[in-house]
Amino acid sequence: MNVVVSNLKGGVGKTTTAVYLAAAAAARGYDPVVLVDADRQASLAEWMEERPVEGVTVVEAPSERTLSRAMHEDEGIAIVDTPPGDERLVQAAISSADTVVIPTRAGGVEFSRVQVTREMVPARTPHGVVICAARFGTNDLDETIAWWKGEGVPIWGVVPERVAIAAGPEARLYREGLEEYDAVLRRALRRR
Ligand SMILES: Nc1ncnc2c1ncn2[C@@H]1O[C@H](COP(=O)(O)OP(=O)(O)OP(=O)(O)O)[C@@H](O)[C@H]1O
Ligand SMILES: [Mg+2]
Repeated sequence: MNVVVSNLKGGVGKTTTAVYLAAAAAARGYDPVVLVDADRQASLAEWMEERPVEGVTVVEAPSERTLSRAMHEDEGIAIVDTPPGDERLVQAAISSADTVVIPTRAGGVEFSRVQVTREMVPARTPHGVVICAARFGTNDLDETIAWWKGEGVPIWGVVPERVAIAAGPEARLYREGLEEYDAVLRRALRRR
């Protein structure tokens, strides 16, 4: 099972989402859980080096060749973190995905990059958005949720903005984040 986390836009929450999804998968008993780091920046690999998650291993795969090798494991689950901007590599990852999680932020400027990313997803591959660092009670968030509903795009999660999540590898994975991402994982896998 290959879960690909993609948005061509940078800084939306892809790496954070990949780490939390992997932790949620390990907690659910998937074995092995492999985090595939397709980003040359290797922020995910560095995160896992600084603060490993039990039951999760990392494979760095910053090229199409290494990526396709890392993604064709039959057993367990692979969660793939992709780089911003690199359309070829993102397309390669998405083409081999069983399900695609698209992290995004609230706010109108975010829609178009998500749409470009969605257009890369094959018709039969399930995909949904996760609104990251959400501020509950804001018009921005309400409008963003309404927009995706209007577009017929499933919202697989709304993850609140939290200092403990922003801390990344500086802190332990945050329980509230793990719970929300567990729900995201469930939705992403159910739609297959
Ligand atoms: N729920 C959240 N609450 C607070 N901060 C968050 C949350 N999710 C993500 N962030 C923060 O947003 C920033 C961008 O997140 P992240 O690095 O995961 O995005 P990315 O899409 O992987 O970025 P890049 O495109 O550069 O790889 C980080 O500082 C991260 O800590
Ligand atoms: Mg990243």
